[in-house]
This record gives sequence, structure tokens and C-alpha cells, in this order.
Amino acid sequence: MKVIQATKIRKTYHRPSESLEVLSGINLQVTKGEIVLITGRSGAGKTTLLKIIGCMELPTSGTLKILDTDTTQLTLEELTQLRAKYFGFIFQSFNLLPALTVTENIELPLAIRGTSRAQRKKAAEQVLGQFELGYLAQRLPEELSTGQIQRVAVMRALITEAPILIADEPTANLDKENTVSLFALLQEVNANRQSTIVICSQKNLAREYADAVYRMEGGRLKPV
Ligand SMILES: Nc1ncnc2c1ncn2[C@@H]1O[C@H](COP(=O)(O)OP(=O)(O)OP(=O)(O)O)[C@@H](O)[C@H]1O
Ligand SMILES: [Mg+2]
Repeated sequence: MKVIQATKIRKTYHRPSESLEVLSGINLQVTKGEIVLITGRSGAGKTTLLKIIGCMELPTSGTLKILDTDTTQLTLEELTQLRAKYFGFIFQSFNLLPALTVTENIELPLAIRGTSRAQRKKAAEQVLGQFELGYLAQRLPEELSTGQIQRVAVMRALITEAPILIADEPTANLDKENTVSLFALLQEVNANRQSTIVICSQKNLAREYADAVYRMEGGRLKPV
């Protein structure tokens, strides 16, 4: 089953003095349960592509199909709903909200979906239990180690049980040990949930965990 079908995606950023075509015709197909890795130098357009695939940004042209939905036909509101339903995101800096506890951070995607407080609490307890991190529930992000922050970010991406995970340089700020453990964690999630995962990473180590590897260059994706 095709989960992501991006066809002839182009993206041009317009600024007063110049126009910059970052994506020049991207074709990418990802099947259910696949882990896809996208590499490429800084500024190559990896984040831009992930944002478009994750329905956070619109392409200048081209089509994007997520499961059976052609996203080009959707209103912005429908696109937001599709994003909340199908995607979990793990960002480079993890983006935990500093004033919220671990539990509140994990619950955020459910709050956005409008899930009731009681159900959110139950879901957060469950995912914390799965990761055996219940003892962190009431801590603030500043009271966590880097490895713990990384796991909280993963739990937050998983709590909605979204079928697609998008991870943008999820190990950029991690040492080797934590890098290995994050990729292993994503692989485990992929195996247990049949999640489809698209990762951008510059780390060579990431290749060991991917089913397909592409390099972004000159606005295009090349199989590696
Ligand atoms: N909102 C924007 N407006 C204008 N230009 C942008 C915008 N977002 C990104 N760019 C430009 O698009 C290009 C690609 O950026 P992008 O963030 O996708 O690169 P990247 O491959 O993720 O790089 P990195 O590895 O450093 O994260 C860069 O030249 C960047 O300056
Ligand atoms: Mg980037």
C-alpha cells in the first residue's frame, strides 16, 4: 500500500530580491511500513520537502497523495485535520515546551485534536508506561537528560498512533550512544506498529536503519 505519493513537487521561495527554487521536481513513493532516509548537504531542501510531505507547507506545484487523499484538493482546514490524523513529528531540537511537564508535552497532539482531558491523561500514562518512563511524568524538560528529552519527543510523536512519522534531523544534537538508541527506538516503533517513517539525517549511521536512502541534490532526489 502506498502511503506517500509525491509527484513532480516543486517549491520556490520568493523574496523581494530573488526567487529560489529549492525543490525542482521531486518524485517520491513510500509504502506502508517503510523507513526512508533522506540525506544531503545543509540547505539542500530536506526540511522543505519534509514540511511539504507533512502538510505543513504547500508546494508551488506538483501533487501529494497521502494514503487515498489527494491533498491538492483540500482546503487549509482539511489539510490541518489530515496532518493531525496521519502525522507524528519529531523535530531537530525536539521543541518540548519548557513550561509544560513531560505528561503535558506528550499530550499536546491530542489536545490539538480536541481529545478530552481524561482520555489524554490515559493515553499519556499508557505511552509513558510502554517506555517505562512513568517516573518522569511530572518533570519539566529542564529536569531531563538529553536522552530522556529525546524519548519524550518520540512519545509525543507516537501518542496519536498516527501511521506516518516525520523526523527531521532527530539526532542532530545527540552523541553517538543516544543517536544509536534513537534510531533503534524508531526501528522498534516501525516493527511494532507498521509505522511509515521518513527521516532526514546527515549521519552515516542512519543508513543502517533505512529501507531506502535518497540524497537531495540540486533540488532533486537521487537514490543512493
Ligand atoms: N521560508 C523560507 N523563505 C525563503 N527561503 C527559505 C525558507 N525556508 C527555507 N529557505 C531556503 O531554502 C533552502 C533549503 O532549506 P532547507 O531548510 O529545506 O534545507 P535543509 O536541507 O533542511 O538544510 P539543513 O541540513 O541545514 O537543515 C535554503 O537555501 C533556505 O535558505
Ligand atoms: Mg533542515
